[in-house]
Amino acid sequence: SGNAIRDALSRPLKDLRISLTDRCNFRCKYCMPKEVFGKDYSYLSEEETLTIDEIVRVTRILSEAGVHKVRLTGGEPLLRRDLPEIIHALASLPGIDDIAVTSNGSMLTPKRAKALKDAGLRRITISLDALDDTVFRRMNDVGFPVNRVLTAIESALAAGLTPVKVNMVVRRGFNDTEILPMAEHFRGTGVVLRFIEYMDVGNSNGWKLDDVVSASEIYDTIAQKYPLVPVAPDLPGEVAERFAYQDGAGQIGIIHAVTKPFCTGCSRLRLTASGELFTCLFATRGKPIRAMLRDGATDEELRAAMTGVWKARTDRYSEERNEQTVHRPRIEMSRIGG
Ligand code: GTP
Ligand code: 5AD
Ligand code: SF4
Ligand code: SF4
Repeated sequence: SGNAIRDALSRPLKDLRISLTDRCNFRCKYCMPKEVFGKDYSYLSEEETLTIDEIVRVTRILSEAGVHKVRLTGGEPLLRRDLPEIIHALASLPGIDDIAVTSNGSMLTPKRAKALKDAGLRRITISLDALDDTVFRRMNDVGFPVNRVLTAIESALAAGLTPVKVNMVVRRGFNDTEILPMAEHFRGTGVVLRFIEYMDVGNSNGWKLDDVVSASEIYDTIAQKYPLVPVAPDLPGEVAERFAYQDGAGQIGIIHAVTKPFCTGCSRLRLTASGELFTCLFATRGKPIRAMLRDGATDEELRAAMTGVWKARTDRYSEERNEQTVHRPRIEMSRIGG
């Protein structure tokens, strides 16, 4: 799948994370708090949003530079009615061997799950921050009931979008009491539950180090009751550390971007819905390529511009994080897609 190009720190380009929309029907306080993302917030217009053809063209050119894994995010990617078409087109690119979606699950009906599968989607990751209905409604802040996300997870399993992963961002004082109930709920179901250290993404969530429940605290909470054994990563550069339940009830993951940063192995480039390339989740600025796409740039010109962005890359934000860096301006999570 192509010759991977390398950045200034010698890291190969392998993954592309594509945000398909900056909109979401949830208002998770750590991502799109209501005070910031209210009625007056200005989202991308349809005209400003990349079309299927533009997304596919960018991905095709990047696949020739080493990208073989694509993750579709948002905002909420299922808000795009053309999601199956996007998946189908991307799955048809010869260099792309892994396509996944990260969704809040609120719109994943059995019918849509099957349509995604038929389009060529292999697997899906669903965000779910609590099992308790009251806690979950408070987390999504739009009163969305937990049962409907649990049903969506069932639909994903039934459609064969496996392995189904569930992402839980752990925030102290909000949902840390849900760690064990979530683990117990998904043990033995085949679903891989991943606990995520709360990160200082964007500028609107008022992140404090005290809010972070560390990977080791999360590990201890579970392992005290259900002994765990480490499992080797599936893919090099994976963000989650994997563990298996000693009793055979399956696997969990812990994503420790705060207490144990993984920038050294970071092979991810990010494309926003407005057509900007970001070399880091915490970057202040991206490289706009939409104008090139629309002003008749050749594949060669696009390739040169995009590989140039990667070759110049020096980002290692999570390894440099300190009291000062937290106050740097940076892109919102809902625009860059996590
Ligand atoms: P897999 O292919 O299943 O391993 O997906 P993934 O874990 O890479 O993607 P997902 O969208 O599920 O992200 C899980 C968590 O990891 C989210 O909180 C992301 O924001 C975070 N994450 C993913 N990539 C990076 C990264 O490059 N840097 C940092 N700091 N966090 C990341
Ligand atoms: N810290 C860690 N993960 C986050 N996500 C959103 N905001 C944050 C944050 N501040 C997660 C979402 C989704 C994934 C793409 O990123 O819950 O599962
Ligand atoms: Fe939406 Fe996901 Fe952000 Fe929550 S974390 S507001 S579900 S994009
Ligand atoms: Fe990659 Fe930036 Fe995340 Fe480090 S902080 S792993 S460089 S995206």
